[in-house]
Amino acid sequence: MSSASDSSQVLIGPSVLSADFLELGEQLAEIDRAGADYVHFDVMDGRFVPNISIGLPVLEATRRGTTLPIDVHLMVVEPERWIDEFAGAGADIMTFHAEGTPHGHRLAEAIWSLGKKPGVAINPATPLAMVEELIPAVHQVLVMTVNPGFGGQTFIESMVAKIARLRALIDETGSDCLIQVDGGINRSTIARAVSAGARSVVAGSSILNDDDSIAGNVAALRAALHGEDADRLGAS
Ligand code: DX5
Ligand code: ZN
Repeated sequence: MSSASDSSQVLIGPSVLSADFLELGEQLAEIDRAGADYVHFDVMDGRFVPNISIGLPVLEATRRGTTLPIDVHLMVVEPERWIDEFAGAGADIMTFHAEGTPHGHRLAEAIWSLGKKPGVAINPATPLAMVEELIPAVHQVLVMTVNPGFGGQTFIESMVAKIARLRALIDETGSDCLIQVDGGINRSTIARAVSAGARSVVAGSSILNDDDSIAGNVAALRAALHGEDADRLGAS
């Protein structure tokens, strides 16, 4: 298990899927001011997942609205068809699903050759064996902690053990590949995901909501990593 001291290295990426799109520019500026590490951008095609979200024109606008790295999560079938266009529209990281392509290694190489960082994602039901051989070839492995397709779902607790098993696999290879988690991350669940080995955390509904400011919510997530009560820190 990792120590709490590692938590300062944890990257936090708000998911714009939960944004108010009428206020996207202002919300991106707030995300930047809140000290987030990157912006997570969910692309859904209505085929790989039972929902349609946002695509190239919104990514181009997002690129103009932030200087943070943009982490594009491609929940699409045949992701290889789209990487040139998403790279051109402003992606810095492109994460495809292992279930969406039979040629993950080729795709990772193609993403590196565009000057971008590849990630590979797996759904909750998909075993780690599907990504094990890709660990040396990618920037990050995304362990989905909900079934992809919607924001605001509940964290699947059994994924904590999966994250820990992936942590051991990565440490065995000596790779600096990151473990990213996405889905149901909030101030109650973030510490378990990070203790198990995650180093990059996506959070949508727990950061972009009406309960608190974006900065207050990011601070609360960071405080939760240290086991502190965010209210005591005066986050608002
Ligand atoms: C779900 C998406 C997530 C989503 C997370 O399929 O991949 O990135 O925005 O939202 P929350 O944090 O609300 O679960
Ligand atoms: Zn996502």
